[in-house]
This record gives sequence, C-alpha cells and structure tokens, in this order.
Amino acid sequence: MYNEALRTQKEIVLCEDGTNTLFSKEFDEPYHSTKDGALHESLEKHVKPSLTLKSDKEKLIILDICFGLGYNTFATLYYIKKNNLKIRVHIFSPEFDEDLVRSLDTFDFPPEFESIKHIIEAISQNLRYEDEQFKIEILLGDARESILKIKEKIDIVYQDAFSPAHNPLLWTQEWFRDVRAICKEDAILTTYSTAAAIRLGLYENDFYIFVHRAEMMRYSTVASLEMLEGLEYIDMELKKVRNTEAKSMRDEDYLKDMHS
Ligand SMILES: C[S@@+](CC[C@H](N)C(=O)[O-])C[C@H]1O[C@@H](n2cnc3c(N)ncnc32)[C@H](O)[C@@H]1O
Repeated sequence: MYNEALRTQKEIVLCEDGTNTLFSKEFDEPYHSTKDGALHESLEKHVKPSLTLKSDKEKLIILDICFGLGYNTFATLYYIKKNNLKIRVHIFSPEFDEDLVRSLDTFDFPPEFESIKHIIEAISQNLRYEDEQFKIEILLGDARESILKIKEKIDIVYQDAFSPAHNPLLWTQEWFRDVRAICKEDAILTTYSTAAAIRLGLYENDFYIFVHRAEMMRYSTVASLEMLEGLEYIDMELKKVRNTEAKSMRDEDYLKDMHS
C-alpha cells in the first residue's frame, strides 16, 4: 500500500508561526497545518486541552498517533517543564518511518525545544527515552498492529495522523474501536478533524464529542469517554437526524481499495 521510494521524499516548509514542518510526497500533504503552525497547533489542539482536562492526575499515559516529527510529544514535555508541572508522563508513539525519527537530531526545531534537546537526540538515536519524569517509546511499524500490543491503559490520545482522505485506515470505526480498547474509562482524545464521519466513528465507540476552540486557530475536536462539563457538547444523535447521509469510515471500504 505505501510507496517506499516516495516515503523518503519530503520538503521542509515554514509555517505561519515561524516553526518548520515537512511536506510528505508519499501522502501529498504537510505534517502540520502550515497556517496554524507546527508548534502552535501541537500546543493548542493537543497539549493544552489534554493537560488542562487531566490536571488532577499525577501520572499520564499518552498515545501519540503518529510520531512524525515528534512535535506533539516534544510540545508536551516543553509545556510540562515550562509550567513546572509535577506530573509524570509515559508516551507511546507508533511510527513506521524509522529514517524520519532517526533524522530528527538534525531537524531545525524551534528554540522552545532547546531545553529538551538531549531528549530529541536520545529518541533519534535509541527510539526511546527515560528519566524520572518522562518515558517515551517509539513503536516502530504499522500503528494498526502496534497499538494492539500496548499493555498499559491510556489517559490521552493525540489523534494526529495524515488526513482521513490520505490515510483512511487510521480514521475508521475499527481503528477507533482498537484505540478505545486500550483506553481508561475516563480517557480523552484530541484531533484536528471536525468531519462528521470521524466524529461518528468516535461516537460509535462510546466517545462523547465536544468542540474545542483556541485563539488564532481553526476549531478542533475533543472526544471523551466520560461526559465533560464546561465544553461545547455536540449531540451526535441530533447530527444523525439532521445529516442522514453521514456515516463513519469503515475498514472494508479501504481494504477493498488496497486489494483491487
Ligand atoms: C501528520 S504526521 C504526524 C505529525 C506528528 N504528530 C508531529 O507532531 O510531528 C503522520 C505520521 O504518520 C505516519 N504514519 C502514517 N501511516 C502510518 C501507519 N499506518 N503506521 C505508523 N505510522 C504511520 C507517517 O509516517 C507520519 O510520520
């Protein structure tokens, strides 16, 4: 399904927040919204809403889908250090592009990541990092298989794959079923996608759906396995009545394409 020759073909792109991302020729898409910005998007769509909602926990297990340039993982560590949070964090992050991860010690990251440079270097060399506060493990290989092997229960999922149109198998109802199976009963999931099909796939796996708004950012989605107060709730039953055409994405529709 994936083209090995194209996988290596990437170009550096400067985002509007002044941070660098890549454009993937394999997926025909940038790794981040160049308008929202790589670091800004990571912090505003994933890190801040998640760590705020889980601020009562002493330890968090995070599933970062997928590692890519590592912005979501690195922004999590940056945010925790900057705000002197005492929380311990264990991050699992699937990624099948080993060469990309191994090249990250030479990537031009923003100055905000200067204090975690040693962590970036360790991950680039060893595909893992551990100290008293942080443990990060890159799960090399196809995320569909890797997540089935995770034994820990997850508090937070950063759902940040390439778009549903370009990477459908990481957005189907069955994918969210497998994600849900390794989640704690109060887990939350953050994603840039606001599409009805994606929200339905989450809803059909017991997630409540909320709109997340941040400054200078397109709105995004927070999903939660328990009802949350103070967030803009979306009644998916009402959505289904109003939009009878909407349906979740299903593996069989894309596996068929792969085999045809
Ligand atoms: C949009 S990028 C992730 C950006 C990343 N979250 C960041 O902050 O830099 C998507 C990543 O998913 C990886 N990927 C796509 N399909 C995958 C799969 N089935 N299994 C593992 N990794 C996959 C790609 O190689 C790419 O690095």
